[in-house]
Amino acid sequence: MSKRLYIETLGCAMNEKDSENIIAELTTKENYKTTTDIKKADLIIINTCSVREKPVSKLFSQLGVINKQKKNTAKIGVCGCTASHLGVDIIKAAPYVDFVLGARNVSKITKAIYQKGFVDTDISYDETTYMFDDIGANSYKKKINISIGCDKSCTYCIVPNTRGTEISIPKELILDEISRAVASGAVEVLLLGQNVNNYGKTFSNKLIKSSFVELLRDISKIPKLKRIRFASPHPLHMDDEFIKEFATNDKICKNIHIPLQSGSTKVLKDMRRGYSKEWFVDRCASIKKAVPHSRISTDIIVGFPTETAEDFADTIDVINAVRFDQIFNFKYSPRPNTVAKDMLNIVPDDIASSRLQQVIELHKAQLDEKMSQNIGKEFEVLFEQQKNKDRYVGFSDNGYQIQVISDKNILGNISKVYITNFHRTYLEANIK
Ligand code: 5AD
Ligand code: SF4
Repeated sequence: MSKRLYIETLGCAMNEKDSENIIAELTTKENYKTTTDIKKADLIIINTCSVREKPVSKLFSQLGVINKQKKNTAKIGVCGCTASHLGVDIIKAAPYVDFVLGARNVSKITKAIYQKGFVDTDISYDETTYMFDDIGANSYKKKINISIGCDKSCTYCIVPNTRGTEISIPKELILDEISRAVASGAVEVLLLGQNVNNYGKTFSNKLIKSSFVELLRDISKIPKLKRIRFASPHPLHMDDEFIKEFATNDKICKNIHIPLQSGSTKVLKDMRRGYSKEWFVDRCASIKKAVPHSRISTDIIVGFPTETAEDFADTIDVINAVRFDQIFNFKYSPRPNTVAKDMLNIVPDDIASSRLQQVIELHKAQLDEKMSQNIGKEFEVLFEQQKNKDRYVGFSDNGYQIQVISDKNILGNISKVYITNFHRTYLEANIK
């Protein structure tokens, strides 16, 4: 009889993909089936994130609850970035945890489950040529890793310590994985990497050469693949060649995430981001000029240690200049083994909170104005989720969430719609 796996995923799309790979290994090689009922599970895995402090501090209380809920014989594994970052300390603090497997060691999961006390958090391990099976999760839309790790040293960020240095996955393996996904029904791919447009800088095999633009061109030649998305590009590597490819390649969806972090050139320098306020605004303007209907989302950190009122005003300035379509905003959270953690000038929490609120309010007002302008407009939507009996959810190529009512099953269809109603975060439409 097969065993049951309960897996919980925190953090980013890369972690979601890692969880898919963990599920693939355990279902194809170890006779597991997934369950959403923790009490029935034989194996419980938490795939953790460590980018901010809060989820990390919650981990141990969460593990305590799981230990009480679980079957007597069930094993607990901690995977992901907090596993990389805390390693054996997790087992020291919670001895009922059976194994700890770092974010760069996913392929070792079939070994980890058999060894009580197993800890492997090697951040130099190279998994770029390991072929994971496809578990068929959301068959229309596939996440595809194109690189592992990160070659930057942003002073606030823990990720280089949890996922190691950047290595690109050979292009042939990526094309092969996408071709197989398309053969089993995928029409859209989401290419994943910490800095996707840095693709090709480092391969494990020094003889391989490729660039992100070349990769995009080759992927777009795969027949039957309709849409390409990627997350996230780094503003520093957004050269004109990349923007031209983004604008002219019809398969590339016109929705792009460009993490700003701060609008102040001084703070960007303290963060070691490698670009200025002007460069960022210019890149966004070039994208908008080349593709007027494109939509831009971003990440913003407020309350970085050296952020003054004038620096924050620069961030507001950039928000006004670019008018982002989506903002993921965060209050700065000091992380272990980062340069920023030891910076002395600290922004008081109430000031950071008030800055966060200002970003939220400004963005809301901009969204309300923008979303209302969509009434009557036409979009092509890939439907990928059935919300309830007759309500389907899909996305336009420029990333709007669009909901329609249909009595036919339209999952996997790409259909033309026109917008009938708007909300702050999604649109309602009728199929044409
Ligand atoms: N504090 C707050 N936000 C952070 N991020 C990364 N590190 C930190 C930190 N120490 C944010 C960045 C990044 C996103 C994934 O998380 O905005 O782009
Ligand atoms: Fe993803 Fe970063 Fe969180 Fe790791 S720390 S799961 S890379 S967001």
